[in-house]
This record gives sequence, structure tokens and C-alpha cells, in this order.
Amino acid sequence: MDVEVKERSADDLFKEFKEVSITEFFRKNKAHLGYSGKLRSLTTVIHELVTNSLDACEEAGILPEIEVEIRQIGEEHYRFFERDNGPGIPVGHISNVFAKMLAGTKFHRNVQLRGQQGIGVSGVTMFCQMTTGKPMRIKTSTGDGKVHNVKLMIDITKNNADVIEQSEYSEYWRGTEVEGEVKSVKFNLSDQGPFEYLRRTALANPHAKITFIDPEGRKTGFERSVDVIPKPPESQKPHPKGIEVDDLVNMSKATKASKISSFLVGEFSRMSSAKVKEIQEVIGKEKKEVKGLMVDVYKVDMNWNPRKLTWAQCEEIVKAIEKIKFLAPASEGLQPIDEEHIKKAVLNILDPEFQVVLTRPPKVYSGGIPFQVEVALAYGGHAGRPNETGIRAEVMRFANRSPLLFDTGGCALTEAVKEVDWKRYGVKDFENSPITVFINLISTHIPYTSAGKQTVAYEAEVVKEIKFALMDVGRKFQIFYSRQRREGEKEARRQMLLKYGTELAEGLSKLSNNSPDPKKIYKELIALVEEKIKLANELEMLEDGDEEGGEVPVEEAEAVGEEKEEA
Ligand SMILES: Nc1ncnc2c1ncn2[C@@H]1O[C@H](COP(=O)(O)OP(=O)(O)O)[C@@H](O)[C@H]1O
Ligand SMILES: [Mg+2]
Repeated sequence: MDVEVKERSADDLFKEFKEVSITEFFRKNKAHLGYSGKLRSLTTVIHELVTNSLDACEEAGILPEIEVEIRQIGEEHYRFFERDNGPGIPVGHISNVFAKMLAGTKFHRNVQLRGQQGIGVSGVTMFCQMTTGKPMRIKTSTGDGKVHNVKLMIDITKNNADVIEQSEYSEYWRGTEVEGEVKSVKFNLSDQGPFEYLRRTALANPHAKITFIDPEGRKTGFERSVDVIPKPPESQKPHPKGIEVDDLVNMSKATKASKISSFLVGEFSRMSSAKVKEIQEVIGKEKKEVKGLMVDVYKVDMNWNPRKLTWAQCEEIVKAIEKIKFLAPASEGLQPIDEEHIKKAVLNILDPEFQVVLTRPPKVYSGGIPFQVEVALAYGGHAGRPNETGIRAEVMRFANRSPLLFDTGGCALTEAVKEVDWKRYGVKDFENSPITVFINLISTHIPYTSAGKQTVAYEAEVVKEIKFALMDVGRKFQIFYSRQRREGEKEARRQMLLKYGTELAEGLSKLSNNSPDPKKIYKELIALVEEKIKLANELEMLEDGDEEGGEVPVEEAEAVGEEKEEA
């Protein structure tokens, strides 16, 4: 039976055409923000709040003291508190911070912080409101003697705050406290839960003091192992090599500079007037009629007004930049945790038999984005991850010091670990060894695959760096491990010789008519064994020395198009 389909006009169809707010989008697609799964959703809430506290303290030069509390108030229903001793939030900004998506102090600054897009904490407000219909409560003060209390929700259609209650009182206190309620979530102590998240956060932030009170009322304190406040991260101007036509068009429209040359020099790093000239030359000249004469003129004259640049001209500039060499981006803005600090933190938390930590020099990916890799390998002690069948290897991934607990597969950091041939370094069965591998990737822009920020995209330069670092710690582990194995073998041999020593001495003594007597022979035998072991040790030390100075990863030549900094 044929169904008669009635035609509809375009006008009729377009009655439903309307703009959606960003908040509305994320409400329908909350998994993009990490709100999928009961456990993951709760960890995401804690992650967003704690990263903000750490970022704020770091920027303000404050040693962070953070407290997280989770209370169960019903079936899959929890209340959370997160407090920091940070700089606080000025009263006029509270509603935008907590109830406006894509609003924050970090986007567009090219700075190594944990937050990037300005959707983290408004995402928390949204999640609370979606699962419980209740507002978030914020208490904050900048230390000016006034404490502000605000209860708010998000007006989804407007991507704006709906302030439900606001009050203030006088008290000298500084910091921020956030309280909210969530439903359809679950707390547990597994690898992906809030407890593990905070444990790892403490590991990568040894300057932070973090206290956690779990739903059973148990209090865990992750004490700081270093008292040094990390240098505040510096914002960086974009590097020319990382720029796309669209960025250049937007920047040129917004600039206050009067000439293209001063615009380029002023708003990009590593750009000099010599480089501007070079760009002009590379773009080249064209014939133009001037007062009836055909003359050669620059296609893009660097004295022109940048606000009048067309898309095609910006494209020419970007193409020219691709052909020119620039100094690599400045890496002073990058803030590694530091080898000594990682060592202390790893010892503090894993207490391993062996550990090695390594910070690689800064590098660049995608032409212009600086990044740096830190890795550590711990063996024995509390390293590895226990399960029913024994201890398994554990890979701890961090991006700008934030733990990445989810979406392990497909992450560039996991891939790099997989690509290392661990057998070469004496680890016969990596998966089933008491090993913890720690990787911290820092960058002014971490190439996450989504707004949920749990997976790092496979950037070849980044993976290569991590692999080099892992191979290096692998070699150090090999030296330790083979030494440990040899020690074991030597001890077994020694015990064997000593065990049969008495019988051997007696036999030898008998053969030589009891002169010298067995006791004397035994004594000499022992001396002989110890001497042999001592010799073997000395020989090994010599060999190890060779090994340490030996094979180093062969690095491919530096990325093309990268100029070396002059001394
Ligand atoms: N605990 C806090 N203390 C001080 N400032 C905060 C705090 N939490 C959030 N902020 C401010 O709110 C902004 C928005 O936070 P968020 O939505 O998580 O985005 P992002 O961290 O990506 O910038 C931050 O950029 C920061 O300026
Ligand atoms: Mg944030």
C-alpha cells in the first residue's frame, strides 16, 4: 500500500531553524565533557574543580592546599565539596566562571595550564543541574575582608547564570569553595575513581597538599614533598610556524598596529623586521600599472594597514612563512615538574626498589607549539598495579600535570609505551612486571582529541619524544636489573660453594694426609671464593661504565625549518 507523502515547502521546514547555545549543545552531548559512565562522571567533577584550584594557585604564586570531600546522601546520589586557598574570584566574575561556557582567563593565551577552553567548571554546574535540578553553591573571597556566597544555575538557552541567592559577610579569608549535588554517579576506590585521581594528582604536583575525605568518612592526606612554588607559567605569543590563515585573518582584523610589519613583529614570537622583509620578498612582486606605467610592486607591502589584509593576502603570508626558517619557539613558558621533585614524589608514594627520572629538552610539534616530556620508571615497592593474578605494569599518563585516567587506548602516551621494545631492556614480560611508568607531557597547547581531555592525539613528534625518553629510562633500568640479577646468581653460586666447602676441605685434607688440616683448607677456600667474587664485581663495574656511556638513541635531525638559536 502506497503512503501518500505530502510535500513540504522550504519555508515550512525552516520554521524550525534556530540557533542553539553552546550550553544547550553540551547538555545534549555531555559525554564530550567527560560525563559518561557513573564513575567517570564523578571523577570528572572532581577533576574540573581540582585543576582549576591548582591553576589558580600556580598563577597567583600560592602553595596550594586543596580539600575534597564526597558524601553519599542516597542511592547513586552524592554531595561534594572542594576548597582551595587560591586567589579567590572577584565578585563580578563569579557568575561567568560558573555558569557561562567558553568563558575563562586561559583561552587564547598560549600558556601551560591545565584548563584551556573555559568550559570545565560551568560543565560541573550543568551536570549537577541536569541530574538533581539543584544549584551549585560557591563561597569565595579574594582576601579583601568580604566573603561572597552565591547559589547559581545555568540558563541553558542563554548560556548565562541564573543567580538564585547571593549574599556577603565580613571575614578575612581567601580562597574558593564549591559545593554541589550529583545523582546517577558512583564512588569507588578503583583506578578510575576520585581517590586514584587525587593520588596521581599529588604525584605530579609534589608542591600541593591535598586532603580527601571519602564517603566512608576516611581522611587521606597527600602531603607535599617539596615546598617550592612552581614558577608561574608565562603566556607566549604564537609562533609563526603554528599559524593558520584563519588565525591570521582574525588577528589582523583585531590589531591596533598601523602597519603589517609592526603587526607581525608585535604579535608573533620570533618575528623580526628582517623576517618581515624576507616574507615580503618570498611573496614577491607583480606587475601593476602606476600612472600609466607598468612597474613591479610587492604583492603584499608590509607598510600597508593590516586591517585591510584580504584572505588571499593572508594566505600568501602563511605560505611564505612555511618557506622561511624561524628560531624555535621559546620554551621558557614551559614548566616541567623537575627531576628532583618527581623523584621525591615517586619515593613518597611508590617507595620503589629502583627509580629513574628523566626530563627531555623542550621540542616543537606541528611547526610551532612547544612541548616537553618527563618520564619516570619505578620498579618494585608499591610500583605496578595489583590485581587478582598478581602485580601488573601500570602506566600513569599526565598532561600538564593532570592525570589522564580514561580512554587509555588511542592515546599517544599509551601508544609510545607500546611502541617501546621492553624486552631489549631486560623486561621479559612488561605487562606482568611490578613497574610503574610515569609520563608527563607539558605544552602550551596539549593536542587533546576532545573537550573531555583524556586522550592526547597521535602527533608524531610528541610520540617520538616520549619513546626516546622511555628508551633512555629503559636502558638505565636494564643496568640496574641485570646487576640485580647477577647479584642474585652470584649469591646462589657463593652459597653453593660454601655449602660444599666443608666436605671439599675434608676431602682435600684426607688426600694430602691431613696436612694442612680441614679447617685451614676451608678458611683458604672461603678466601678464594670471596676473592673471585670481588674480582667479578670489579669487572662488572667496568662493563657497566661502558654501558652507561654507550648506546644513546639516535635522534633524527631537528625538524626542518627550525633555525638554531645563536649563542
Ligand atoms: N578555584 C578557582 N580560583 C580562581 N579562579 C578560578 C577557580 N576556578 C575557576 N576559576 C576561573 O574561572 C575560569 C573558568 O574555569 P573553567 O570553566 O574550568 O575553564 P578553564 O579552566 O578551561 O579556563 C578560569 O579560567 C579561572 O579564571
Ligand atoms: Mg578548568
